Amino acid sequence: MTRVVALTGAGISAESGVATFRDSGGLWEGHDVHDVATPEAFARDPETVQRFYDARRRHLRTVAPNAAHRALARLEGALGEGLLVVTQNVDDLHERAGSRRVVHMHGELARARCVDCGARIPWARDLRGADPCDRCGHGVLRPDVVWFGEIPYDTERIEQAVVACDLFVSIGTSGAVYPAAGYAALATAFGARTIEINLAPAAADVPFDEVRAGAAGVEVPRWVDEIIAGA
Ligand code: APR
Ligand code: ZN
Repeated sequence: MTRVVALTGAGISAESGVATFRDSGGLWEGHDVHDVATPEAFARDPETVQRFYDARRRHLRTVAPNAAHRALARLEGALGEGLLVVTQNVDDLHERAGSRRVVHMHGELARARCVDCGARIPWARDLRGADPCDRCGHGVLRPDVVWFGEIPYDTERIEQAVVACDLFVSIGTSGAVYPAAGYAALATAFGARTIEINLAPAAADVPFDEVRAGAAGVEVPRWVDEIIAGA
């Protein structure tokens, strides 16, 4: 059975109305990334950081999965354990489209994390003004999002899947941030075929075997139809 790893980035959620990072002139909804997405920023000005993520968490309630998210869920229906979605996104659009096998390497807006006991708690409300952690009774709750300078989640599981896969597809990511940016080269090194689907494909350290330039909402369903037809 073909084993597929799909790495997704902000571009897969763009057509759902979720801003990408580098298409908005490098500012995150008006914020410099160093003011809202580093542990230092949280220590310096927790109110601004909580406010930034509360706004993004609230915005999630106004957007919906698009055809690309739905196509990957359909592919999971066909391949089952033969597909793993590794996403850099912190939105919940893959899950809301029906994907179950999703690894959020940069964490999730829909979770909070206790700064003291490390508990990761499903969270839908604002974190500003939230009560302390109910697991340890005293820890401050922060967004369960991996900030710059922090270690991404599940990297061992991801690398094992990338090494073992036959087909690696990168969807809507600029390849600007490691370790995600290195997964296509790792897949190539272990003999997988690699495909990039991107509105504006960028030059990669190691070229993809195939590049499909276009919107994820159009190209991903088309690619999934081909995989399912050939499965
Ligand atoms: N369809 C396909 N690709 C798209 C679309 C679309 N509709 N719109 C934009 N793209 C592509 C862009 O061409 C770009 O290559 O999506 C990519 C978005 O790149 P970034 O904004 O850099 O997002 P991403 O690659 O996910 O960033 C990676 O960097 O900022 C950190 O932690 C943050 O997870 C993020 C990581
Ligand atoms: Zn706690």
